Amino acid sequence: MSVFDTIIRGGRIATASDVFACDVGIRDGRIAALGQDLGEAADIVDASEKWVLPGGIDSHVHVSQPSGEGIVMADDFESGTRSAAFGGNTTIMPFCLQEKGQSLREALKHYHAKAEGQCYVDVSFHLIIADPTEQVLGQELPALVEDGYSSFKVFMTYEGLALSDFDLLRVMSVARSSRALVMVHAENYDAIRFLTDRMEQLGNLAPRFHATSRPIAVEREATHRAISLAEIADVPVMIVHVSNRESMEEIRRAQQRGLKVFGETCPQYLVLTEKDLDGLNMEGAKYVCSPPPRDAASQAACWEGIQQGVFSVFSSDHCPFRYDDPEGKLTPRGRTSFRWIPNGIPGVAVRLPILFSEGVVKGRIDINRFVALTSTNHAKMYGMYPRKGTIAVGGDADIAIWDPGIRQTLTHGLLHDGSDYSPYEGLEITGWPVMTMLRGKVIVRDGVLVGAKGHGDHIARDRSVYA
Ligand code: URP
Ligand code: ZN
Ligand code: ZN
Repeated sequence: MSVFDTIIRGGRIATASDVFACDVGIRDGRIAALGQDLGEAADIVDASEKWVLPGGIDSHVHVSQPSGEGIVMADDFESGTRSAAFGGNTTIMPFCLQEKGQSLREALKHYHAKAEGQCYVDVSFHLIIADPTEQVLGQELPALVEDGYSSFKVFMTYEGLALSDFDLLRVMSVARSSRALVMVHAENYDAIRFLTDRMEQLGNLAPRFHATSRPIAVEREATHRAISLAEIADVPVMIVHVSNRESMEEIRRAQQRGLKVFGETCPQYLVLTEKDLDGLNMEGAKYVCSPPPRDAASQAACWEGIQQGVFSVFSSDHCPFRYDDPEGKLTPRGRTSFRWIPNGIPGVAVRLPILFSEGVVKGRIDINRFVALTSTNHAKMYGMYPRKGTIAVGGDADIAIWDPGIRQTLTHGLLHDGSDYSPYEGLEITGWPVMTMLRGKVIVRDGVLVGAKGHGDHIARDRSVYA
């Protein structure tokens, strides 16, 4: 009888720090051995000429999240985790949104029910704190952090979600005492409201005015304020979906001052620009997300942040809506202003191929930084390391095998999500994940779904290594 269930043979392994040629022996869903001549196994995977990488962890994903009256998110847990697997991911971290007046436990019960039995990859929820009552902050949140929900997101904008500075400080102070990690959506709500009203008064209603209503100053100011509040509360903070130089530099300055301030950027800020919002008719709605994509100089700044380690995580902010659908981007009931276009774009399947192709293949980053930005740092940041995020004996056998030579033009058909378009349609990509394996079981092989729905579990997390 063989010692291993599976052996991955002949590949080149990359972790966040090393590259080495060896075989991977997998038993009972875990990596049991790394070495040569591991013998035989029921399943032998030939990885010659391929990269063997830790499965991607996408720590910023929205699925099945209510998004406003009459609007329906394009992905549920089945399609969202399926698309994630096609893109080389083995864990995603979706958000559990607390509705006003709702307890966090109630919200979680609801999201767990939606996810139960539906997932192709592992999931682990962040909380969104929308209603920071005394009960929520005093009782629920500390208990839930203990239970493995060790991170939460707060918003400085969006109707019904934006918290005052006072409430941000209250939430941050609970994060400090319970050692949770706070993620901040940094955009100035009042400035956006003011500019949105002004655009509408001028008759500027097209999708491109979404970007005009959220200029860089809106994001930079909020980033500066979020960092200052975190400094006052003496708590680590993650600034999510950073789009431009000025915000990136706020984070860099804070890091240089020795603060535990972390940054995340996303594919849309590397390969899209504000010009994409200026399509014919409503086509620009396909690119409406917040913060909006900016310009070539902002793209260069985001690359700089990636190369210099200002950004520790690269996430998709997958927030999918259908385009040609009155419940999606084409806003219903005669609402013509950009104000009503749901914010968010799909990207969970393209995050890794875009960074591999634009980053590793084009020589902007090496393979170790790629692994760190897409897997290892997410696991460390959000309390899953070393079970996940690396290739090491004892860890989950969450592995993506990449063919670095595959060249293809990105089409929506490759992504297997619930949306009806990709904002990245037509992008030329070199390198693609040819096998995604979760806890030793193959989910996607050569572009075919072979895994079982329901194999994906919920992961209760430890504290962030930084909290
Ligand atoms: O436009 C975006 N990013 N929508 C998703 C929600 C969020 O703020 O992350
Ligand atoms: Zn956000
Ligand atoms: Zn988001």
